[in-house]
Amino acid sequence: MSEYDIRYERYRTEFEEYAAEYMRTLKTQPSVLGESMAYSLQNGGKRIRPVLALACADVLGLDRREILPFALALEMIHTYSLIHDDLPAMDDDDFRRGKPSNHKQFGEANAILAGDGLLNEAYALCFGEGLKGEAYIRAGMILNECAGVYGMIAGQSADLKFAAGQEELTEESLLRIYAHKTGKLLLAPMLMASVLKKSKNYYKWERFGSLLGVLFQMTDDLLDVTGNFDDVGKRVGKDEGEHKATCVRLYGLEGAKLRAEICAQNCHTTLESIDGDTSFLHDMIDEVLNRKK
Ligand code: IPE
Ligand code: IPE
Ligand code: MG
Ligand code: MG
Ligand code: MG
Repeated sequence: MSEYDIRYERYRTEFEEYAAEYMRTLKTQPSVLGESMAYSLQNGGKRIRPVLALACADVLGLDRREILPFALALEMIHTYSLIHDDLPAMDDDDFRRGKPSNHKQFGEANAILAGDGLLNEAYALCFGEGLKGEAYIRAGMILNECAGVYGMIAGQSADLKFAAGQEELTEESLLRIYAHKTGKLLLAPMLMASVLKKSKNYYKWERFGSLLGVLFQMTDDLLDVTGNFDDVGKRVGKDEGEHKATCVRLYGLEGAKLRAEICAQNCHTTLESIDGDTSFLHDMIDEVLNRKK
């Protein structure tokens, strides 16, 4: 294993243990509610958002325990967005993280409620942390802004509009969709860590996080064309037929790969302006660019 892999694994394990402990205390009536929430939350996933949160905390010199509850809240919101994204009314995907999607396992109605449950638990975590003081409230507010009607939800709404052929795809509109549906939740860890540590580099982190979010969705679009089910754990080759707003549709396959490389380069340049040991994050940029899953 490379040094990067070892560190990623360490962050991931730290997060998994925290998440498992939290979920052990969740007792729902009826039990299917908690089971369906846990099915998706604790069902694999790369955990890139929580890993980013822990890695940024280390760069900033913030105690990782301070950000763990927010990292879990973020991963809960990300997971709910995937459950709803897979529903027949949205992308209609039968597989997620290598297993049947939530609605295939529990039925559509339960899947909707599992998503709702995760969303509410996420903010319960934030409110709990908010009792500690203003910086914690602000971290929760950032998560809300990134995830809510000015963030991921807006992006998902725009994504549907394009898929329905109601708007022409331009570079500007593609970047707007990317920034919202995916970018905001990848940016959230950096902004939350920055406010918790009262960092002076807030806007640099914002720029870096936004670029990484764009890169992440570009490579997600690329994997829909070049990836395979066993690696990505979800069906591939779907976006074109569904007229999704993707970089492959706008630039063609080779053009999209080139844009991803340029975007990765911009991520590196932006990160160079941030103080501290950012070597893990530099490696992460290259991992995201070259990812197979
Ligand atoms: C998938 O996110 C949805 C996108 C925003 C592209 P991830 O690729 O992070 O999915 P998991 O969490 O690893 O399953
Ligand atoms: C989803 O984008 C982004 C979300 C907010 C869930 P996609 O629809 O491309 O994600 P996948 O490919 O289903 O993971
Ligand atoms: Mg989608
Ligand atoms: Mg989808
Ligand atoms: Mg996709």
